[in-house]
Amino acid sequence: MRTFRFAVAGAGVIAHKFVDGLSALPGAELAGVASHTPGRAEEFVNEYSCLYPRAAVYHSYQELAQDSSIDAVYIANMNTQHAETAMLFLSNKIPVICEKPFALNAGQAKDMIECARAHDTFLMEAMWTRFHPVTRKAADWIRTGKIGEIVSVKANFGMDVLTSLNGRTAAIDKGGGALLDLGVYPISYLSMIFGHPPVEMKSIVSKVSTGVDASFDALLKYGELDRPLSQIHQIAHLSVAMDRTLSQTIEITGTGGVICIHDFWASDSACLTTRASAEVYSPGWIPNGYQYEAQEVMNMVTAGKKESSIMPLSETISIMETLDAMRNQWGLVFSQEK
Ligand SMILES: NC(=O)c1ccc[n+]([C@@H]2O[C@H](COP(=O)([O-])OP(=O)(O)OC[C@H]3O[C@@H](n4cnc5c(N)ncnc54)[C@H](OP(=O)(O)O)[C@@H]3O)[C@@H](O)[C@H]2O)c1
Repeated sequence: MRTFRFAVAGAGVIAHKFVDGLSALPGAELAGVASHTPGRAEEFVNEYSCLYPRAAVYHSYQELAQDSSIDAVYIANMNTQHAETAMLFLSNKIPVICEKPFALNAGQAKDMIECARAHDTFLMEAMWTRFHPVTRKAADWIRTGKIGEIVSVKANFGMDVLTSLNGRTAAIDKGGGALLDLGVYPISYLSMIFGHPPVEMKSIVSKVSTGVDASFDALLKYGELDRPLSQIHQIAHLSVAMDRTLSQTIEITGTGGVICIHDFWASDSACLTTRASAEVYSPGWIPNGYQYEAQEVMNMVTAGKKESSIMPLSETISIMETLDAMRNQWGLVFSQEK
């Protein structure tokens, strides 16, 4: 059987992790790497030459876009470059999986999706958490009513990744900040849990001297439950930071139980507690977790689908709109948006 040929555009840190993940995916191979940085694609391909001896070097994204033997391109460059890069491949009818945040803002996300539809080509946000077995199990517990109706969610996501003012996370001209780097994970998780964006949002931000957000705390309302004796607001509390470590835990409370997941963005287990029982789901963590999103791309593209039902494009737009609305509350405008 023919292998599925993934190529990479943007040969940086995360692209290596994605390709490491491919090695746990039977039937997939690295077909090639494109980089704008001289020497970087060669270096990347050499690093994986034992696993993928046939992988090609492309000296530009344009050169890769001309290769019709590629089954899908994984886009892993700067947040500000995602939209233009994705549309280059889509307009050449090459399926695309694009790193999070999908784009700089919802307007760019809509342009990318319009381009995919105009060229009848597959497009998906690389929100890897969404495809992990533990996330799939939590979604299944919620969908089948194991914890009843959702009452509240508490999520903390903090990593000390702000090591200098010169890196991409601090740069206002590269779409930096905690919201797009880390906050997108719990916000995407909330979208999966509630099935729609928040109806109301309040937040407090702390900024880096460059103008991007270093951390924020937010209260998001998703709806109301009318109970016989009282009214319940369906609320999410988020704490997100890129300048300190936080617990990285999500706790989802329903009228009939609680789901608790440590390291929810890449977890190896989840705990479900109801009045009647307790259950731990621990499927075993298969390194490194990026193969699950790649598997979805393989399945969808091979089946001739143009988008994933696990991470639909309409939901990607809705998540980007939530990010835009939060930035709007903080007056955070990226250089490209001025
Ligand atoms: N899913 C996850 O767990 C995860 C984790 C980390 C990051 N990410 C996302 O992945 C993307 C890349 O992050 P990364 O940490 O891998 O970034 P990175 O290693 O710093 O850079 C990735 C690529 O971006 C381009 N680039 C970097 N700096 C540039 C500059 N100053 N000017 C022009 N192009 C530049 C280069 O592309 P060329 O090779 O073409 O020159 C580089 O190889 C981001 O969108 C980030 O949000 C996802």
